[in-house]
Amino acid sequence: MNGRDLVRSMKAVSWARTAQRLRAVRASWRRRRADSAGLVRRGPQRARVPGAVVGADPAPGGGTVRFARSGLRIMVTVSGAVFWGWDGADPLPSYGVAGTCPAPDPRAVLEPDKDGGWRVVSERATVAVSRHGAVTLCTPGGVLLRRDLPPRWWGPESGAEARWVQRSQVPADARFFGLGGRASGPRLREGTYVLWNTDPGGSFGPQDDPLSLTMPVQVVVADAGTHLVFHDSTWNGAVTLREGREGAGSGHDRPGTCELRMEGGPLRCWVVVGTPARVLHTWTQLTGAPAVPPSWALGHHHARWGFGSEQEVRRVVAGYKERDLPLDAVHLDIDHLAAHQVFTVDRERFPSLPRLAEELREDGVRLVSIVDPAVRAERGNAVYDAGRAVDAFVRDAAGRLVRGVVWPGESAFPDFTAEGVRKWWGGLYEERLAQGFSGFWHDMNEPVSFSAFGDPSLPLSARHALEGRGGDHREAHNVYGLCMARAGFEGLRELQPQERPFVFSRSGWVGMQRYAGSWSGDVATGWPGLRASLSLVIGLGLCGVPYSGPDVGGFDGDPSPELYLRWFQLGAYMPLFRTHSALRAGRREPWTFGDEVVGHARVALDERRRLLPYFMTLAHLARRTGAPYVRPLWWGAPEDRGLRDCEDAFLLGECLLVAPVLDAGVVRRPVRLPRGRWYDTVTGERFEGPGVVSVDAPLSRVPVLARAGALFPVRGADGGVALEVWAPAPGDTGGGVVVADAGDGWEEPETTRYRVRWAQGRVVVEADGEESGGAVPYPVRVRGL
Ligand code: GLC
Repeated sequence: MNGRDLVRSMKAVSWARTAQRLRAVRASWRRRRADSAGLVRRGPQRARVPGAVVGADPAPGGGTVRFARSGLRIMVTVSGAVFWGWDGADPLPSYGVAGTCPAPDPRAVLEPDKDGGWRVVSERATVAVSRHGAVTLCTPGGVLLRRDLPPRWWGPESGAEARWVQRSQVPADARFFGLGGRASGPRLREGTYVLWNTDPGGSFGPQDDPLSLTMPVQVVVADAGTHLVFHDSTWNGAVTLREGREGAGSGHDRPGTCELRMEGGPLRCWVVVGTPARVLHTWTQLTGAPAVPPSWALGHHHARWGFGSEQEVRRVVAGYKERDLPLDAVHLDIDHLAAHQVFTVDRERFPSLPRLAEELREDGVRLVSIVDPAVRAERGNAVYDAGRAVDAFVRDAAGRLVRGVVWPGESAFPDFTAEGVRKWWGGLYEERLAQGFSGFWHDMNEPVSFSAFGDPSLPLSARHALEGRGGDHREAHNVYGLCMARAGFEGLRELQPQERPFVFSRSGWVGMQRYAGSWSGDVATGWPGLRASLSLVIGLGLCGVPYSGPDVGGFDGDPSPELYLRWFQLGAYMPLFRTHSALRAGRREPWTFGDEVVGHARVALDERRRLLPYFMTLAHLARRTGAPYVRPLWWGAPEDRGLRDCEDAFLLGECLLVAPVLDAGVVRRPVRLPRGRWYDTVTGERFEGPGVVSVDAPLSRVPVLARAGALFPVRGADGGVALEVWAPAPGDTGGGVVVADAGDGWEEPETTRYRVRWAQGRVVVEADGEESGGAVPYPVRVRGL
């Protein structure tokens, strides 16, 4: 490009930006007008409470307790999950619950309780209802887990539009987690967390809330036990949390409190009680098993907004290859599309994507495509015309098409809450597959419409099908990304039935894991952003979405070599391991940060590759048990309060503890250990938990510790699977699981459990199960001797 061209193109860019801003201003006004015409104003409203109990009607799994002005239905299900709903709320329909509702547990019966109340006793929890409608959740031993005060409603006597508030108390020592992806966690401190999927606009840090993937799901961990509570309403809301305080011997504990205010939707909730592992298992039985990605998606991905051309993609891939740095996927952002239009290609800059895809594939690198929901609203745009033909786009209350502004300019938005629209949209991925793409990156699906003021989304009055029930954006907004994920996932399953779809999405809701993973969105470059990215992954995992990861290096600006490297080292242990950055941000190829960084990045990449069979095993365990790959340290020991408060380390499956470096200048760091013996996987040094130990964290690596007795599959020197075993403490035993996945496809892979024990001074490994005769079909390396 010569000087004159550069000036011309800069002028074009700034003109395009001005035009886009003007469009955003117009769209904001349109949005405001649509809502003032299309939303019915709420008149003066009186508060309502349930009133006094008047009777009860038993039913399978529990029954209904009748109050003067409301009713409370309680149902314990065979899965152990407990449902309760006020005002006639049923478990279904629900966007969160997968398929049908679990059957009631016939052993759970509604019976009179003291003081005129009622209760249902079940195997995992007792639910007691007071005379005025307070609901208490206790362990089978009678220890309090949660107490919901009688709820309050404002608005119509019944129906979805009544606002409600539910105040709850939890034990003084309880800690809150979850609520989807939050940047300030993983432990959610005092504050208000909004339940409205929001693009923060620009990059975000720990202070920004809400973000793209909110969920009304709390995981509460206390000495008394762990429980998960899901308030199944998709409407906007806010949760205000306050941790309790213990009375230090005075006996005057101040309980933790939670106040949930919802703008509408049924007042219903699910609670699951048990160990963290049991809670997540029951939770994903209820909301769906996490999809297992194809094995290549567990490798290293490189993305960038603004590769700009096929040559540049080739250059980057060659850079990895020349330096012997493993690479498994390259992501193309909106700059590869013709004028940013979804399901198109800019043929000037990307003249032959299928050929590029094929070339890359020969080198073991897959192509992933961004897919945004907004469709440029212009006749002649094939996707728009086809969408119009099937009436796919969201309309306003007056029946006019809702237009917003996104990257392609004035856009229409598919209504993914209609089955027919999902089917139509799912079919469009055929074009992407023909271009050679193997995976899909759903973005801007909160959904975003750029705005000069107000919420950067669709008008609240915009109409949605909501599976035929009909409703508006207040109810559909939070599930827009979820339904888009479903459309993509189901479309891909039909288009290429042999392969497991790879979809990950910025926005979503409860049940997202059935179709897709996620990534952390535009996390700000900086040490706080690095911390935030770990918080998001842990929080989502506890809400049932186990596959996610950050933009390694941060989305904007230029990380220092040290920050980049530390982010890279964290990313290497995240389910989605992807470098990515914004159009005007600095580069993120490891070699742009100098030779020292390349060397250390290579170590991280090689280690990720070596751990691939373990990641694959974790993906299958997540599907079968709901246990996320990345777990908080308290996962196996929620009673250990020190672990509950530890936010700078995590468990990768059962076997490894990763202690990333999250601050500048750190070369040695304290690591809090759960109970038992642990080994530094590099030096072999032994540590005994519980407690805090100091571990070396030189620039070349972050501390990764193995649990004594751990066994997990790794890639051996010959490329095949080998078993890595860490010696149990003397007199102890150990073991682990190997899921032998073929890399893709739907066949149920063979799963073998192995036992590890000491025998005559040697560590012995045997396969479980009679058929194997104990034989181990893989090379074994025992470490920590
Ligand atoms: C959004 C995404 C980001 C992407 C950009 C352009 O900001 O979060 O990852 O690069 O849009 O598509």
